[in-house]
Amino acid sequence: MPLKPLKEKIATGQAIIGVVGLGYIGLPLALAFAEKFRVIGYDTSPKAVDQLSAGHSYIDDISPSLVRRFLERSFEPTCDPSRLGECDLFIICVPTPLNAERKPDLSHIISAAEAITEHLKPGQFVILESTTYPGTTEEVLLPLLEKGGLKAGEDLGLAYSPERVDPGNKKYTIRNTPKVVGGMNEMCTDIASELYGAITTVHRVSGCKEAEAAKIVENVFRNVNIALVNELALIFEKLGIDTWEVMDAAASKPFGFMPFYPGPGVGGHCIPLDPFYLAYQAKKYGMDAKFIETSGEFNDFMRVHAVELTEMGLEQTGKSPEGSRVAVLGLAYKPDISDTRESPSSTIIETLVERGAEVVVYDPHVGEIETSLGIYRSTVTLKEALEGVDAVIFVTAHREFKELASGDQSLLSGKVVVDCKNMLDGKGNYVYLGIGKPLPSKEGKE
Ligand SMILES: NC(=O)c1ccc[n+]([C@@H]2O[C@H](COP(=O)([O-])OP(=O)(O)OC[C@H]3O[C@@H](n4cnc5c(N)ncnc54)[C@H](O)[C@@H]3O)[C@@H](O)[C@H]2O)c1
Repeated sequence: MPLKPLKEKIATGQAIIGVVGLGYIGLPLALAFAEKFRVIGYDTSPKAVDQLSAGHSYIDDISPSLVRRFLERSFEPTCDPSRLGECDLFIICVPTPLNAERKPDLSHIISAAEAITEHLKPGQFVILESTTYPGTTEEVLLPLLEKGGLKAGEDLGLAYSPERVDPGNKKYTIRNTPKVVGGMNEMCTDIASELYGAITTVHRVSGCKEAEAAKIVENVFRNVNIALVNELALIFEKLGIDTWEVMDAAASKPFGFMPFYPGPGVGGHCIPLDPFYLAYQAKKYGMDAKFIETSGEFNDFMRVHAVELTEMGLEQTGKSPEGSRVAVLGLAYKPDISDTRESPSSTIIETLVERGAEVVVYDPHVGEIETSLGIYRSTVTLKEALEGVDAVIFVTAHREFKELASGDQSLLSGKVVVDCKNMLDGKGNYVYLGIGKPLPSKEGKE
């Protein structure tokens, strides 16, 4: 049995691990394994590999000193696919975006699989971590790996184990977040569990499809619940009820409830995109994923709603977006990180400009953001962004903004302030509107 020696190699720390794709997911994983194993990190981006080889890091949660520590010991970043031939196990952590038609784009998984297949030998093992629809590992990856004549499940190992990294989360990391593992047979699940068991705890499932589905369910759950609370926020705004206060009150029930909070929509590489992988697969089986589609629409609408609130505030001061100057604060999609992928801020900027406003942006963690109207560069300081603006939209709850909110708010004096994240008490010398906050009485009833 070619796969049998792998367990022993893993148990004794002799296995060589190839991590394919060194992004937000692959790099932390590669370094976690580098504590116990030799790791070859393969990425097609020369820029990423050059930066890592020089001891730098492009991921907020990974310090350059951590990269340097493992470069000296056990971690080798490379762009050379022939180095994959040295590995015993491959872990694929490449992007899974949606294409222009909002359908799954598996091209990165396919090209990663092709690079691996070139170097496959009996006894090697492939694990997919990229988020995708149930069926991808066995219906898409497996046939590519078997092209060289090896039989998956016998000559080659194959498993799926979803990534659960939450960038910026200091409490839950790879080490204290259980890893779901499902192989294409019992032996594959055993070997993959042995591997992940070296760095964290493992939750075994019966197969690849169940592991793929578990990840999608986690993201659908968040997407749908965020959309639900956003719908409630729109209703409560009109009813003059503070959604945040209501959610905290409901959350005082110690069972059967989990609070979610409203906001300007969802961002990042997972929650806005992954549910549509399942919707796509459902369609192939004649089902419409109605909750998923509706949630996407609701969460997208919240970006426009942030602009609508700004318009209402400007109206109160006798202005309109046309000719007004508006500061968008926060370009990252969540607090205290620098990732702008799918960030609500880009749509907010585009919508403001479409309605005639001049937009200035600021983020303490991000230099610039790409929009369909071009690149918007952050001012150097918050003070600079606030100078001479008519309205301010707090999009991301960065620490710097929370400090302003809880401290001296004189910089906001006389402006319209739109709070998408419940950061301000609304009691300063400004016109205040917030997502999920009671609307000024004139705007409430239709
Ligand atoms: N970022 C998150 O918070 C998060 C959380 C859970 C799951 N995921 C999932 O993990 C997967 C990876 O996401 P990410 O955020 O790390 O992406 P990323 O864009 O940060 O990194 C992907 C890396 O893969 C490289 N790459 C692309 N094609 C390649 C190929 N054929 N061979 C080798 N390298 C290749 C890219 O150059 C890049 O460095 C996705 O499926 C994503 O949905 C992401």
